[in-house]
This record gives sequence, C-alpha cells and structure tokens, in this order.
Amino acid sequence: MYMKRTRISSLLLVLFFIISTATAQKLQSPDKQLELSFSLDVNATPSYSLTYKGKQIIGQSKLGFVVRDGAESLDKGFTLLKTSNSASNTSWEPVWGEQKVITDNHTEMLVELESKGQLMNIRFRLFNDGLGFRYEFPKQEKIYCFVVQDELTEFNLTRDYKAFWIPGDFNANEYEYTTCNISEIPAFYKKAVHELFAQKPVEQPATNTPVMLKSADGIYVNIHEAALLDYPAMQLAVDASKYTFKAILASDAWGGKADINTPFHTPWRTVVVSDDARKILASKLILNLNEPCTYDDVSWIKPTKYIGVWWEMFIGRGTWNYTNDTHIKLGVTNYSKATPNGTHAANTANVKKYIDFAAKHGFDQVLVEGWNEGWEDWLNTKREYLYDFVTPYPDFNVKELQAYARSKGVRVMMHHETGGSASNYERHMDNAFRFMNENGYTAVKTGYVSYIRPKGEVHDGQWMINHYANVARTAAKYKIMINSHEAARPTGLCRTYPNWLAQESARGTEYEAMGGLPPEHTTILPFTRLMGGPMDYTPGILQTIFSYYNPENKGQARTTLAKQLAYYVTIYSPLQMAADLPENYERFSDAFQFIKDVAIDWDETWILEAEPGDYVTTARKTKGKDEWFVGAITDENARIATIDLTFLPAGRKYEATIYEDGKDANWKTNPMTYNIRKIKLNTKKPLKINLAPGGGCAIKINEIK
Ligand code: NOJ
Ligand code: CA
Repeated sequence: MYMKRTRISSLLLVLFFIISTATAQKLQSPDKQLELSFSLDVNATPSYSLTYKGKQIIGQSKLGFVVRDGAESLDKGFTLLKTSNSASNTSWEPVWGEQKVITDNHTEMLVELESKGQLMNIRFRLFNDGLGFRYEFPKQEKIYCFVVQDELTEFNLTRDYKAFWIPGDFNANEYEYTTCNISEIPAFYKKAVHELFAQKPVEQPATNTPVMLKSADGIYVNIHEAALLDYPAMQLAVDASKYTFKAILASDAWGGKADINTPFHTPWRTVVVSDDARKILASKLILNLNEPCTYDDVSWIKPTKYIGVWWEMFIGRGTWNYTNDTHIKLGVTNYSKATPNGTHAANTANVKKYIDFAAKHGFDQVLVEGWNEGWEDWLNTKREYLYDFVTPYPDFNVKELQAYARSKGVRVMMHHETGGSASNYERHMDNAFRFMNENGYTAVKTGYVSYIRPKGEVHDGQWMINHYANVARTAAKYKIMINSHEAARPTGLCRTYPNWLAQESARGTEYEAMGGLPPEHTTILPFTRLMGGPMDYTPGILQTIFSYYNPENKGQARTTLAKQLAYYVTIYSPLQMAADLPENYERFSDAFQFIKDVAIDWDETWILEAEPGDYVTTARKTKGKDEWFVGAITDENARIATIDLTFLPAGRKYEATIYEDGKDANWKTNPMTYNIRKIKLNTKKPLKINLAPGGGCAIKINEIK
C-alpha cells in the first residue's frame, strides 16, 4: 500500500515536472550559443538552468529567499504572472578603461512572480559571454520593508570542475588561491583557511567570489556579482558531492543579512562562460550590468601613476609611527613632547626627496603613509577613536610639502587608514575631505585593516557596502579619487562612480615582503579578483632580493625583474604605483624606463594568450596615441610567449623595445637578470619570447614614421 502510494505520487511528480518544464520560459543570447530556462519546480519554487553550445552549464538551480520581519516565504508557492522578453544592442564610453568603447549587446527576460500577494520579479540578461540575473521587489502594498535571512540562489554546476578559489571570509580577500576540483574543496579547506584581520573565515567550506572554474572538456565558467549596493556581499557555500554552490550572505550585527525597503533590487549574480579562457578576461559583462556614471562633470577624474613612501616600511627601513611610546591617546598625549623613534618615514625632508624623484620621472602623485597622528594607538591597541585624518605628526609639514609639490607639478596623495573603524571615518569624513581640498590633495588611499566598527559588522556586510559607496559619492562632491584597501571586492561600481579608481581586496605586492606570493598568483588574479574591477596591486619591485637591505632578510619577491614590468600591462588599473624605492629605480634606470613609459588608460585591449594558473599575455593600445604595450607572464614554469602581432594596424612599420628575462633567469635563483633590446617588427610573424620560471616580458611598440 505504502509502496503504491509512493509510486503514484512520484508519477504525479514526474508529470508535474514534465508540465512545468514544458512551460519553461526560455531566453537565448544574441548569438544563440547560450540558452537560459526559467521554471517553477514542484513546490512552485523559482528555478533556472543554463546551456552553452548545447552543453549544460548550470543544471536546475533554486532561486528565492528566506525572509522575516515584514514578508513571508519567498522560497516557494509562487505563481507566474507574466514574462516579457526584449533585446538591446548599444555601446558606451567609460571615463577610463581597458577600451574606449564598450558594447552592451544582450537579450532580457523579466519574470514577474507572486506569492501570497507578494510581488517578486527576476530579471535575466544574456550576453554572448554569459548570464546576469537579479531579484526585484517593485513598490507594493504587501511588502514594504523586510529582512532577508537567507538568499537561496544556487549554481548547480552538475560536473566536477577544477576551481581556482579562496576561502569564504566576509572580512578578507587576502588569501592565496587554491586550485583543486570542486569535489576536493572540503579536503583543502582546512589548509586554505586562516585568520586575517583578527577575524575567522566561515567554518563550512565556502569560497569568496569571483571563483574561476574549468571543466575537463575545456569550458571556463566564472561566478561573481555585479553592482553590489545596499546589500551584503555573496559567498558560495560548496556542496562538493553535488557540485553545487549556494549563495551565502554576510550577516549584520543583528544576525540578519539585508534590510530591504521596496522598491528594491539585489545586485546581479553573474556567470561568465566561454570555451576560450581569453574571452573570460575580455568580458565586459560585469561593467555592462552596472549603472552608467552618475556624475555630470568627470573632468577631474584622472588615471594616475604614483610612487610612495610605502615600500621602505615593508622592507624595514622606516616606520609608520612617529614614536615608540605606547598608549598615546589622541588629545591626551601631545605628540610634540613624545620621543621620536628616528625611523618615521613620513617626514618632510624624506617626502621632498620622493617629490623630486616623481617630478624628475613624470609621476603624477606621491603617496605618503604614516603622516598623521594615531598610528601608535592603532598598531598597539587597535582601539576605535584613533585618527582624525587632519592632524599631521610634528615632523610632517602639510603646507610646506603642498607648496613644494605644487612648484614641481606633482601632488601628494592622501592616506586614510581607518583601522577598520568606519564609524570613526564617517564622523570625520567631510572634514577630512575639506582638509584635502584646502591642501591640494586630489586622491586618497583608504584602508580598513582589522575588525570593523560599528561592532558586529563585517567588511562584506550591508552596512559596510553602504559605507564604501558613501565614501565614493561623498568624495565626488569634493572631486576626490578613491583607492580603497581591505574593502569588499569590486563588482564593477567604478562604471557608476569612476572616481573609485581602484581597490586592493586581494593579496598584493605587500605579501612579497611577508613571505612571498606564489609565482602563479598573478596568472590567477585576472580570472578572479580583477573580474570585478581594477586592482592597486602596487607592482614594480626591481630589487627582488631583500638581503640587499639587510643580510638577515632572506625574503624575496617570487618573480623575475622583467615579470614585475609585465604587470603594468597584465594587471589592469587606471591607478598604477611604482612601488620600489627611488634608489632602486636609479640603479636600474634602463628597466625603469618601461614603468615611466607605460600608459595607464587605453583605447583597446587584446588578450592574446591566457590560462588561469599558468600564463597571461595581454596587448593594449594607449588612449589617443599610436603606441602599444604588451605584457606576458608565466607561473613557476618557463614558457615561450607567442605574441600574435596582427592587432597592429596593417601596412605600417613598427619598432619594439623588449624588456625580457636574461639568459638563465629564474625567479628563485637568478631573478634580477634582464635584457633590453630593440627590434623592427614583422607583423606577419608572431613574436616569440622566452619567459623564465616565474618570469615575464614587457614590450613597448612604436610606429616608425
Ligand atoms: C594594508 C594596505 O594594503 C597597505 O598598503 C598599507 O600600507 C597598510 N595596510 C597600512 O595602512
Ligand atoms: Ca600553474
């Protein structure tokens, strides 16, 4: 009897399933290679699936929410009210970018749903290179404000892809990447997870996005999000047996995930797909899903090349703090009476040397870290009421340096380390930006090292997501450009707020001084962290061996010198630092010439070769100029970069200056040997360049008139 009833009900289920899939709503990408299906499953839970060239990419995957405080069950029992399909093919010009014109060619399906009188829409967009979808809650009587307790979005990958991932941590992205199959993530998770910024990552196996995937038959899939505003960042919980990722959202201090007021829409969930790894890097899907620039006047936003009082602190030559006295509290201790430690790097005389160097070599700005009172407190006690962002140490003369920099056509770049106390920063922000206006600063590097204040909030939570956007918008009122470190990883918001020039939000060059980065790291970054926007990676370490500073220091950057030059092309950013000490650039002035010459804004970009974890070769054309740059990098394995030169306009003559690894170069044993040569190019034949283990090459190409 029992058996029978089960059999009948499973029959009914199958029937229902057939009917519901038969009524699945379909959408095809403009080139028809991608197909999306939407349907309501047996529980009337919304679900979607995706195919690419006839292959299943995402199997049936759930959509919806667990909600409370003002709405009920947005996870099942939905009725499909209406679907409407449309298409759009337009183009737009970013204020700065990898290319001058970006095409936005997509099809769209808006699915309108209702459950218990509650309205929820899902908007799907298909581009030729992937899918974006978001949830929308129109203005309605039934739900006005509510709390999202869990987002149920799934990405059922159906197969065991190779994954390039970092552990799920709502406070940090500064991890090394692990490469393993989805099925192996739980086993590798324990090794990959550790504490950063005094915060523990989540216990269950999960990955921060963007996550990069490759199937055994050569399909590349990248999962991330676009236009993250007023909502927590998404991580992916890993179900290793079903090859399924499920969205998990950062909590707020009250244990909820997002406070929603209708009308509202979530950020877009993005799935970039291709059978060519180069197309993943060339994708503009995430930027296309962001809103256009909201500023009328953008004339003050300028791609910027800078040096800084920075690396000397990392290699032990200087300190951020002015004194070694502990427990100095702002307003209690008078810094002019404190005993200077004699190693404070941000002193007027030292900064002047950097300004001289910047002026001589054509840099726009000089970043100065450790210029303001409060570092002792932050370094020693990690307390909240630290910086006011306007009070310099006694040995840093703001007005004198401002006048000096101005006389040399250079600017000093501001630094606001908040120590994670966003509440303190919000209290002081307007005043700090006014101070910048009064003293000739046009750009600020912000930082959020350590746990977040308000207490209980995390770097990726809704409160902080609103904070970062608030900083960008407020800064715009003062015509200030932002470079945020330790903020939630980017999701293409630089299209909407182009004064948000760059972010760190991943392991950058500083880790070369803190144990070293694996040689493959920078071949993975473009496929992961960089999918959401430019990175202030701070390349350009030419003195890669650190015993140069101190025989005790056995550290080194795990790259060749030439690879450091290639980064200026392979790691895209409109904000590029030359991170090494001026004295090292004087010593390697011929190699330094490339850093001086390389452009930071582009008309066009060509990804010539790419494979996550192995290599990247990129060519770019300087904005508004007939000049091209190529960068090629490899992981720990030597390789020959094959540079197809057909991106150069035919029928002209070209000369290339090649900065390559020297004979026998090797990141570990012989990293600093390099060779510079000039050749005439035959554009019909690909150029072949030897890359050393952990090596790279950088090329400047000019037309011969
Ligand atoms: C971490 C940042 O990434 C680094 O660039 C900065 O120097 C330190 N925080 C101090 O603010
Ligand atoms: Ca590799």
